Amino acid sequence: MPRDLLNSITGKLIGDLPIFCLERWQSLHETRARVNLSESGVHPLRLRDLISYGVDLEEIFELELGYGWTKGSQELREAISELYRGFVEPENVVVTSGSAEANLLAVLSTVSQGDTVLVDTPNYMQVAGLLQWIGAKVVYLRRKPPNWSFPIHEAIEFMKKVRPKAVFVTDPNNPTGSYMSKRELEELALEASKYDVTLVFDEVYWGTERGEPKHSIAEVSHSERFISTSGLSKAYGLPGLRIGWLASGSKTLAYRAWSIKDYVSISPSILSDRIASRVLSPNVIAALKKRARDIVSENLNVLMSMISKGDIFTLYPNAAGAFAWVKIPWTKDTLKLSYSIYEMSKILVAPGECFGSEGHMRIGVGIKPELFKLGLSELLEVLKILKDTAK
Ligand SMILES: Cc1ncc(COP(=O)(O)O)c(C=O)c1O
Repeated sequence: MPRDLLNSITGKLIGDLPIFCLERWQSLHETRARVNLSESGVHPLRLRDLISYGVDLEEIFELELGYGWTKGSQELREAISELYRGFVEPENVVVTSGSAEANLLAVLSTVSQGDTVLVDTPNYMQVAGLLQWIGAKVVYLRRKPPNWSFPIHEAIEFMKKVRPKAVFVTDPNNPTGSYMSKRELEELALEASKYDVTLVFDEVYWGTERGEPKHSIAEVSHSERFISTSGLSKAYGLPGLRIGWLASGSKTLAYRAWSIKDYVSISPSILSDRIASRVLSPNVIAALKKRARDIVSENLNVLMSMISKGDIFTLYPNAAGAFAWVKIPWTKDTLKLSYSIYEMSKILVAPGECFGSEGHMRIGVGIKPELFKLGLSELLEVLKILKDTAK
């Protein structure tokens, strides 16, 4: 793998800010990839497709393209409050440019230099990178195979002993797809309230669960000190709208996040705000989630039928997300492996190193099923060749 590529996706960017490995890896390759299996959401919808889901675009054509509401329109914040079944008031919702901006605001409004924080890994690593940048003392709590569930009792022990400022969890987790049960969330929330710890949950994959529906941290919290971030990029297939949000039980935290947003993006796009308000009606939500589940189930079935014969990789059971998390038993250097795959076939996967987990790989299962089948069979061929040459 070329040294300049390695340097551009690993190491430090500014001060203690690490380079955001996954986003850089994708930015450098995804536009030239023939089959992009590095994504974590489902194939995006066209604006026109929304008509068939009952969204009236004529009304949207009439919209004046001003700045709009800096924390998001009342209508959209009410719809988001409904997603949390009223456990978060519309006033405590800040609409952001994707959940990526919501995560930035969550970090900046809860943690200061020198604070100790606990961070869930393996992880997408946005929050971990930002926390390092601002000088927090970051302690990683590692999930373990084969089920990769959040080690809740270790988290509770840590809260008891260390009293961290905040605990950051990605639930459902990216890249493992594991998510917490309502009982686990309740237990964590109860203990966090005893020690005055803020729980910050990145819930952007909420709605992609294939089994029991996930509950939000907002529904079980015993104190107002929680933040949930989420958005329309994953289960809804609308990442191009760049609509995310931060929802908190605390007026102070939500107000602080809104005030920091003044420095970052001022307001969400008014066009996206209006479309999002229409998308977040119960019928459209249900139909889009079904679409996502159908695409993922079809691709997962293909994946399971194609790998049952070989020992190319081990597939972990995955409960949510539009991705599969796999172990490569024959090499630890999955960054080099991912690069070789890309060089040989222009198929792009996401290397485990970008999630803090060498020897693993994330394979997107949200692309169009016709393309997935072809892409996967090519990927398996290439992996076979690379495995044989690695011996
Ligand atoms: C865990 C997690 N959080 C946040 C994001 C950012 O998503 P968006 O800004 O599109 O909502 C991603 C994107 O992959 C993610 O995986």
